This record gives sequence, structure tokens and C-alpha cells, in this order.
Amino acid sequence: MDHVDALRSELLSAVTEAGDLAGLEGVRVAALGRKGRVTQLMKGLGTMSPEERKQAGAALNALKSEVASAIELRKAELSQADIDARLMAERVDVSLPARPEREGFIHPISQTIDEVVAIFGEMGFTVAEGPDIEDDWHNFTALNMPLEHPARQEHDTFYLPSAAEGERMVLRTHTSPVQIRTMQAEKPPIRIIVPGRAYRCDSDATHSPMFHQVEGLLVDRATHMGHLKGCLIEFCRTYFGVDDLPVRFRPSYFPFTEPSAEVDIGATREGGEFRIGHGDEWLEILGSGMVNPAVLENCGIDSTVYQGFAFGMGLERIAMLKYGIPDIRTFFESDLRWLRHFGFVPLDIPSLVTGTG
Ligand code: DAH
Repeated sequence: MDHVDALRSELLSAVTEAGDLAGLEGVRVAALGRKGRVTQLMKGLGTMSPEERKQAGAALNALKSEVASAIELRKAELSQADIDARLMAERVDVSLPARPEREGFIHPISQTIDEVVAIFGEMGFTVAEGPDIEDDWHNFTALNMPLEHPARQEHDTFYLPSAAEGERMVLRTHTSPVQIRTMQAEKPPIRIIVPGRAYRCDSDATHSPMFHQVEGLLVDRATHMGHLKGCLIEFCRTYFGVDDLPVRFRPSYFPFTEPSAEVDIGATREGGEFRIGHGDEWLEILGSGMVNPAVLENCGIDSTVYQGFAFGMGLERIAMLKYGIPDIRTFFESDLRWLRHFGFVPLDIPSLVTGTG
């Protein structure tokens, strides 16, 4: 039985020396596989005398199970080593400081949306959305702008090619149609803001054919102009970070609100630039008003029971004023130098606790 002992020590040391799972599998096949050395020896048992076979058979069986369990043991060790090696290779040093300069920048519009959402979110408004491609009814008619209404002319609308039935869809000229969609879908009380894109055929330093607005809508039983004023004064002061910022409500006209007011904030002109705060200049930043009862009725809301207020403002405009960005067109030029200058680091997520910029 010397050759069995020799084979045993040869195989066992091959098992121990196998450096990885693939090598170990090779050892297993060479020893216990169909043409393996132990298997071959077992095949030879048939040619032996019964006496020899009994002895040799027992010895080979013992060898086979010893080698098999050595392989299992080594396999467990190697798997563990494999996991350890991967854990080492994929290790993240959580004590390293963040390296935001490598991460790219948050676009000022995304930042401004986050800031506005943080402020109104704290007041209990939730974010609503609607389609950029709108039908005429939601964009105009339901907002109290019937076909011949002169206010339609001010919108420089982009029309899409007519569909077969003749209806011409538009790129929404404001975020106000989402007021309509929300009032149709939900019952009051409603408290939403709608940050989103709007489109008008206009382009200069203060107009871009695609721009962003945020719409606000609150509908409840006892809503009045005082709520509108309190809410918007609070917003302006928090957004611009000036506690005593002068805010002025100037009577205006919008078909979808009655009464309507435009909101101005106080500023000083220094050289060619404005500084937000006390001063002898006023900057218009948004439109607002009490929702016209006709608009509530268009959406199936009983205007003898419910009142609402609404507002809409241009996000580029308030971003330009806050961050001193002189030309609206630069927002959409994808110029990395511009983004590095005016962009925000990704970890600066606005909130009322950490500040809104
Ligand atoms: N939709 C208006 C515009 O684009 C802005 C606006 C004014 C929205 C008054 C309102 C509002 O909800 O009440 O010029």
C-alpha cells in the first residue's frame, strides 16, 4: 500500500498548495475526476483477487474521502480569501474629505428650483407637474383667455403643426396650465408649486425661447389676499436672504386672477448693478392674484365655497438677481467655464436649515 500513501501525500500537498479556486478545481479533476488518478486506481480493483480487493478497496475509499474533504476545506479557505481580497480592493476610505471639484457642478437653475422648493415646501406646498406640450384649452381658455382675448398676443406662442382633427397643440407659454390640471384632478384644499419649463418665441438678454417658471396655487375655503401677501413676502425675504427686504404689491391685470398684483422688491443701483435690499429702486419679480372665480368654475370648483390665490415667477430672473448673472442666454449655452463660475457644488443641497444659497 506504499503507493497509496505516496499518492495521498502528493495529493494533499497539491491541495494545500493550490493558490486559487481555479487551481484547486484542477487538482480535484486530476485526482477525483472521471480520468483522475484515484478513479483510475479504483477501476483497477476489478482485476484483483477478492482478498486483495477488500484491502485495496478500503484503502482507496479512505484516500478518496480524505482528499475530497481536504479539497472542501481548502475551497472554503480560498473563497474567504477571495472575498477578503475583493473587500480590500473595493475599500472606500470614508474618512477622506469629499472632492467636489472633481464632481461637476449643479446648474444655477437646478439650484434655484431646489431653493424655491425648500422654502415653499416648508410652508406646506407640494410639487406638481404637467406636460410641456399643452392643448389650447389648458394653456389659455380655461385660464380665462378665450380665443379672441388680447392677452394671448403677449405670449408669442410656439404652435405645433395641426393634428388631423385640426387642434393645434402649443408649447406651454407658462406653467399656469398645471393649475388647471391640478384643480381638475384634486379636491380642495390644494397647495402646490409647479417648477417647470415654459416657451415663448422671444430671445434677448432677458428673454430665452425656453425658460423656467414656478407657479403657485392655494385653494381653500377662507383664503384671502392677506394669505397671498404673507406667503410671498416670506418667500422673497427667505430667498434673497434679506430679513427686512421691502416687498411691494402693485395692482396689475391677469385674466386668471382678480384682483391681480405684481410684486416688486427693493433694490439699490450701484454702478450698472442692482443690490437687493433697501434703496430707491424697485425690481419686479413675479405676478400674483386671487384666482378668478371663472377659473375655479372652469375646473368644477364651486367658487361660492372656495377661494384661491396664485402666483407665477421666472426662475432665471430670480436666479439672475440673486447671483448677479447678467444675460439669460448664458444659462443654456452649456459653457463649462460659465458653469464652473456660477454653478454649485453637489453637496450644497438647499434647505431652510443649511441655508438656501
Ligand atoms: N402666467 C403668468 C405669466 O406667465 C404669470 C402669473 C401671473 C401666474 C399671475 C399666476 C398669477 O399664477 O396669478 O406671465
